[in-house]
Amino acid sequence: MNQRLTSNRVSTPGTGNAPGAGAPAGGAGLVTFEQVRDNPRVKAFIRSADSALEVIGYTEHGERHVGLVAHIAYNTLKRLGHPEREAELAAIAGYLHDIGNAVNREVHAETGAVMAMRILTDMGMSDEEVAKVMGAIGNHHETDGSAISPVAAAVILGDKSDVHRTRVRNPDMIKFDVHDRVNYAVEKSFLNVDESRKEITLELTIDTKISQVMEYFEIFMTRMLACRKAAIFLGTSFGLTVNGNRLT
Ligand SMILES: [Fe+2]
Ligand SMILES: [Fe+2]
Repeated sequence: MNQRLTSNRVSTPGTGNAPGAGAPAGGAGLVTFEQVRDNPRVKAFIRSADSALEVIGYTEHGERHVGLVAHIAYNTLKRLGHPEREAELAAIAGYLHDIGNAVNREVHAETGAVMAMRILTDMGMSDEEVAKVMGAIGNHHETDGSAISPVAAAVILGDKSDVHRTRVRNPDMIKFDVHDRVNYAVEKSFLNVDESRKEITLELTIDTKISQVMEYFEIFMTRMLACRKAAIFLGTSFGLTVNGNRLT
């Protein structure tokens, strides 16, 4: 069955098929997605990371973004037939993937992985699972990360497909900042996981009056290449459509 994962309508974690909304949480003794999401330290770190990025002019990286990444990462692995617990670890990694920005934007993936280790170990997660989550967080950035596991690949796909108008903090700036302009131009973005055809497609609807498709590529080419590598790791191809036209 062809399943479509929304990446702009799901704005909070625990909605749809994400863990915490009817999906079975991990078995007895396992640290669940909900426990991580509701952990006060996690909330504090995500909010600190987002406000630090706001100060230096980055798009929204708060609970909307990480909740969405968790949701997409979880659903991607579920659609492709991965075990429930692996999908839940992808959701946990997705939710924590940007906390390193609370320390510094540079090497935030690696910093965030170490921060997550402390949190998850304190919560009682096993070392094996912590290592999986750390590897996914530490590899989510397109310039220095690789899809080293299904969990990591799912987080990369979730993170790189979150391009959307709602991430722009100040629409007055879109004239001046190309990242803001491209994000603002994206009216809809869907990560379509077709398990029968083994195909993952990022489907974008862009207002070309605001930003040309070329600008999208200028900014996001490395992200699309990271998505392709992640999709291939998961045994699927990766494609991109803009306004209904297949570009890759
Ligand atoms: Fe990041
Ligand atoms: Fe991110």
